[in-house]
Amino acid sequence: MVMISHKLMSLILIIIGGTFFRRVSSSETCNGICGRLTLPYPFGFSPACPIRFHCSEVDQAAKIGGFSVQNVTENSILVGLPHNCSRKIEDMTPLFASQNFAPTENSFLMDKCMYKTNGCSINQGFLENTLKLQSCGSAGNISCFSLYTNSKFFSMKDLRNSSCSLLFSSIAFGSVGVNAGVALEFERVQLGWWLKGDCKNKPCAENANCTQVDTPDGNAGHRCSCIEGYHGDGYINPCLRLKVRG
Ligand SMILES: *[C@@H]1O[C@H](CO)[C@@H](O)[C@H](O)[C@H]1NC(C)=O
Ligand SMILES: *[C@@H]1O[C@H](CO)[C@@H](O)[C@H](O)[C@H]1NC(C)=O
Ligand SMILES: *[C@@H]1O[C@H](CO)[C@@H](O)[C@H](O)[C@H]1NC(C)=O
Ligand SMILES: *[C@@H]1O[C@H](CO)[C@@H](O)[C@H](O)[C@H]1NC(C)=O
Ligand SMILES: *[C@@H]1O[C@H](CO)[C@@H](O)[C@H](O)[C@H]1NC(C)=O
Repeated sequence: MVMISHKLMSLILIIIGGTFFRRVSSSETCNGICGRLTLPYPFGFSPACPIRFHCSEVDQAAKIGGFSVQNVTENSILVGLPHNCSRKIEDMTPLFASQNFAPTENSFLMDKCMYKTNGCSINQGFLENTLKLQSCGSAGNISCFSLYTNSKFFSMKDLRNSSCSLLFSSIAFGSVGVNAGVALEFERVQLGWWLKGDCKNKPCAENANCTQVDTPDGNAGHRCSCIEGYHGDGYINPCLRLKVRG
């Protein structure tokens, strides 16, 4: 009697254990939770997430390499880039290593340049005060590096071709609305992002628009967004109509 119930017990445990294990190890859903932080699809922390970040348990924050993800929006990922007088260009590699995002609409502030790079139109004195350049030995000789061509994304090749060896920080040109113009965000890198494939395959959820996105390697990319008055991720969950109060 004792033996039987023991065996039965083991069997039950195996069944429960098996179910539990399957749920926990399911790779079919994208896990967007990292501590107190919850990111919307397609962002997340498990292999099923099209845009995958590292969850740093210590600071309960999303990371790309050692860089903190500060915000994700409909078309950008904003990453913190604290000023650093000795950051080598190669330290930036993680921000260029994905096939789903790449730096766009930034100016990089470079140091130890062989020649002056094409500047941005920001006053040196203002930069020096804002970014505490005086902490660097070569104070006041920072070069602003922007894209020469009408190419939309930066590559590591562009940074390496800047003739500079250090990358002090970055300024992101955040859009603040149709008529409000552009906000300069210091110590931030703006990444454009996309999912693979074009809009012809109708990759978006119901009530979502598909936007074709040019990607650095020339392959098709897209983003989805709920049509006006609807809310949701626009990819795997249907966009639902927003409730109007009153
Ligand atoms: C993140 O982006 C959203 C949408 O643009 C904005 O409303 C919000 O203030 C941003 N949050 C932070 C912490 O920058
Ligand atoms: C600045 O960059 C250097 C070179 O990569 C690194 O060793 C150092 O830890 C960085 N300093 C800070 C404060 O992050
Ligand atoms: C400042 O940088 C320029 C190139 O941007 C270089 O030609 C010059 O030698 C640098 N001056 C100092 C004092 O490092
Ligand atoms: C590299 O920089 C030089 C000088 O600024 C520029 O004329 C050239 O087009 C750049 N090459 C590439 C491949 O970006
Ligand atoms: C979605 O597409 C429709 C038709 O092209 C357009 O009228 C609408 O403004 C778009 N909505 C959004 C939120 O982009």
